[in-house]
Amino acid sequence: MGGKAASISDYRALAKARLPHFLFEYLDGGSYDEVTLRRNVEDLQNVALKQRVLRDVSTIDLSTKLFGRRSSLPVGLSPVGLSGLYARRGEVQAAKAAAAAGIPFTLSTLSACSIEEVATAERGFWFQLYIVKDRGFVSDMIARAKAAGCGALVLTVDLAVPGTRYRDYRAGLSGSMRGPVSRMTQVLRRPDWAWDVALRGRPMTMGNIEPLVGSGAALSDLMGWVARNFDASVTWTDVEWVRSQWAGPLVIKGILDPDDAREAAANGVDGIVVSNHGGRQLDGALSSARALPPIADAVSGRIAILADGGIRSGLDVVRMLALGANFALMGRGWAYALAARGGTGVAHVLKLIEAEMRVAMALTACTSIGEIDEQILERSGNRAQ
Ligand SMILES: Cc1cc2nc3c(=O)[nH]c(=O)nc-3n(C[C@H](O)[C@H](O)[C@H](O)COP(=O)(O)O)c2cc1C
Repeated sequence: MGGKAASISDYRALAKARLPHFLFEYLDGGSYDEVTLRRNVEDLQNVALKQRVLRDVSTIDLSTKLFGRRSSLPVGLSPVGLSGLYARRGEVQAAKAAAAAGIPFTLSTLSACSIEEVATAERGFWFQLYIVKDRGFVSDMIARAKAAGCGALVLTVDLAVPGTRYRDYRAGLSGSMRGPVSRMTQVLRRPDWAWDVALRGRPMTMGNIEPLVGSGAALSDLMGWVARNFDASVTWTDVEWVRSQWAGPLVIKGILDPDDAREAAANGVDGIVVSNHGGRQLDGALSSARALPPIADAVSGRIAILADGGIRSGLDVVRMLALGANFALMGRGWAYALAARGGTGVAHVLKLIEAEMRVAMALTACTSIGEIDEQILERSGNRAQ
């Protein structure tokens, strides 16, 4: 496989070398001009941490509790569609790596491995739900998640309509008659991936939605299928409807506005994910790092605040918590590692995050997750942005 990885950006380079071009572009890209994608990373990196010294930081506890369960890190894996194609039966590998590290994994509705397949390997993972027009099918998915023992239901609400991703067009993933030929050429240039995933990792289908799309409809026109089947009429009434079928922790993913956060708190959900879908939907929207502080002011202490978008290191996790999150999620970070090295890569990235968090906490004089708050941020600039 070649190449050592000391950071998530190293894993990104390895993923690029291993994945067929269209799959890397799908993973790496954002919508339109990728303004929000860039902001997610840059705004988080620009958050200045306050160095403190000569405190006893010889023992640091990174664990935290969320929804009544202990997590060894305040970090979980965000749902990433098609991640089962980044490595052989990829979602199973990622779920196992997360469970071994003692943190939650979230399975996307748009995964290659089904809820049931992942559950045979590991129970307790979270399930991410999209509401499609066929509500009977949505009810079935909720029931399947319940039967599989999923630890939380994450309802993603920022995909009422799909944002356009130019890179998917250019790479032949969507919108082109020549797509299949172009993709096949790209696959032939990546023999390691072809052997590992396309041959030994079959079937390459959309595990959860196969009953709706049929087994042949896998990759091509995924976003077209999304556009035809996702329901743009979804409102808080539908959240109530989901709540009535799911007694466990319910999390709304895709909140960027304090008023929406207040509404979530008033509607009986257990948590929100402050997220702009990794810069893949409304380009020009606020970065998560900027959206988070006013949302924390609005609902902190009433519901759990999770946040994702732009996390590329353990330092970024600490920044996200200091800005007001109780828990951080990571999308591309784990998916790059899965693409590069399978479950071993995911496990390694979680080790890197842990080590980086230890350094950030020691040098900001925090010995437990509860101590991370805005006090560890430099006053000049950060919150006043
Ligand atoms: C390739 C890819 C696929 C994604 N698929 C989903 C999905 O199926 N459901 C969902 O709720 N979010 C999805 N997301 C958004 C992530 O859950 C998460 O919000 C985002 O990746 C966080 O930003 P980050 O990649 O900078 O960590 C996807 C993101 C990527 C990069």
